[in-house]
Amino acid sequence: MNVLVCGGAGYIGSACTEYLLDHGHSVTVFDSLVTGYRDAVDERAEFVLGDLADREKVFEVMKNGKFDAIMHFAAASLVGESMVNPGKYFHNNVCNGLNLVDAAVEYGVLNIVFSSTAATFGEPDEMPIKETTTQCPINPYGESKLCFEKILHWYNKVHGLKYAALRYFNAAGATGKFGENHNPETHLIPIILQVAAGTREHIMIYGDDYDTPDGSCVRDYIHILDLAQAHMLALDAPESGHYNLGTGNGLSVKEIIEAAREVTGHPIPAIIEPRRAGDPAFLIADSTRARKVLGWEPKYENATAVIESAWKWRCENPNGYAK
Ligand code: UFG
Repeated sequence: MNVLVCGGAGYIGSACTEYLLDHGHSVTVFDSLVTGYRDAVDERAEFVLGDLADREKVFEVMKNGKFDAIMHFAAASLVGESMVNPGKYFHNNVCNGLNLVDAAVEYGVLNIVFSSTAATFGEPDEMPIKETTTQCPINPYGESKLCFEKILHWYNKVHGLKYAALRYFNAAGATGKFGENHNPETHLIPIILQVAAGTREHIMIYGDDYDTPDGSCVRDYIHILDLAQAHMLALDAPESGHYNLGTGNGLSVKEIIEAAREVTGHPIPAIIEPRRAGDPAFLIADSTRARKVLGWEPKYENATAVIESAWKWRCENPNGYAK
């Protein structure tokens, strides 16, 4: 297929672009480079610099591209930031996304794979989380993604836009070429690896008084190559649907730090800090539907392998994408 990848210069978008190209698809990356990096765009892809806020540009790209499908990664995605600046999240993730789906409908590109999130569930009443679990976000980031899932539902009903909403749990790891490099970095694994690499003194554990086995938050860390596989499979899904993407294994912040100590051989000092606003205690996926309907077969089932790939990328790219 000829695929438009919005946000293809970001962490997950860059890995999916590489994966699509490796599997014979052609890709045009559309990215504002506000948080993405030009060097994170696979050299085999076309690149268009642009922002989804620019409606005219989005329509122009869609008109000229002759795309078969769209992958939509472009978004603001930090839980903590969304609790401070909710407007940024609703503008970026809802209003700007509308420009994309309006253009898709206008030019008949009626197949979209959307980056949704476990954060749409909030503090769910069942664990692991199924697609049928009640969605009740506890932060504006999750709410903005849930709004867009609902927009897709109605664009499907009214305009026939087929969608797959992929709710990622905690994306982690690196491909051979591309890895995680946010600025500023707020995510757990890259920060831990900064400590191991000597560019940060310690990791702060945000809360050890949660109702979890060791008091720290539990998450389901899923490798970006497994996410990429799900995106490619979702292009061929026969009908619209929602899929939770995780391993089904929950690991606490403390367990991740311990695993990283083993992988890196560094003591990784940790200190306990207060809870971070908007963080649920547990997020673990039940991905049965993705396995059954999409034929998804995640390959990275344990956190050590995920951390190893991230550590390898970090050692090979000590400054991330900075020249
Ligand atoms: N954490 C720390 N110290 C840090 C950084 C994070 O203790 O320095 C903790 C957080 O409090 C949380 C866990 O590590 O409990 C994971 O935090 P991340 O910031 O790495 O990831 P989040 O769970 O906040 O969010 C990520 C994505 C979201 C997605 C969510 C789904 O950034 O886009 O996973 O689970 F919605």
